[in-house]
Amino acid sequence: MTDDRPFRFTIPIPSAVPSRVDHHIERRLSAMKGQFYDTQAYEAMLANEDLLLYEVYEIKRPEVAGELLMGISVVHPGKVGREFFMTKGHYHTVLDTAEIYYVLKGEGFMVMETPEGICAVEPLSPGQVLYVPPRWAHRSVCTSRREDLVTFFAYPGNAGHDYGTIEQKGFHKLVMEGPDGIEITDNPRWRA
Ligand SMILES: [Fe+2]
Repeated sequence: MTDDRPFRFTIPIPSAVPSRVDHHIERRLSAMKGQFYDTQAYEAMLANEDLLLYEVYEIKRPEVAGELLMGISVVHPGKVGREFFMTKGHYHTVLDTAEIYYVLKGEGFMVMETPEGICAVEPLSPGQVLYVPPRWAHRSVCTSRREDLVTFFAYPGNAGHDYGTIEQKGFHKLVMEGPDGIEITDNPRWRA
């Protein structure tokens, strides 16, 4: 590629929409079937409106080892039943690839687990960097009442996305609103 020169872009705050966007993904409630614990609340919400749960602004690079793929993830505030809005969550197809997140705005959690069933739930708030090591599936959850959870991410170009494993078995941990605040609970439907 002759035109493969270094480039810059900006992430203006508070909008957090990057100055360069090659691909904009919108994930709505209808794309999250089977992901939220309270299926009744999910169906009732969906019948009313196919709400926008999260968006991803991608900067395109070749999807090969040696490159980095990066972008901005925006999870909107809200709940399905008692469970906070979240991303689908995924393993990388090439399991031995990591990812780094930098939190720009909002509050939330990163829910993670390995194929062996080890899990971790890390709080996210502005200024924090979260390193997701190779082999850890990851999902971001927005627990802000009104604000979006906005993160910058970067991961290896050859990583790929495996959404199917999480669609089938879910994550071990759920992030819910409880009577005394945020609760991180075991997912009764989680399958080893
Ligand atoms: Fe990822």
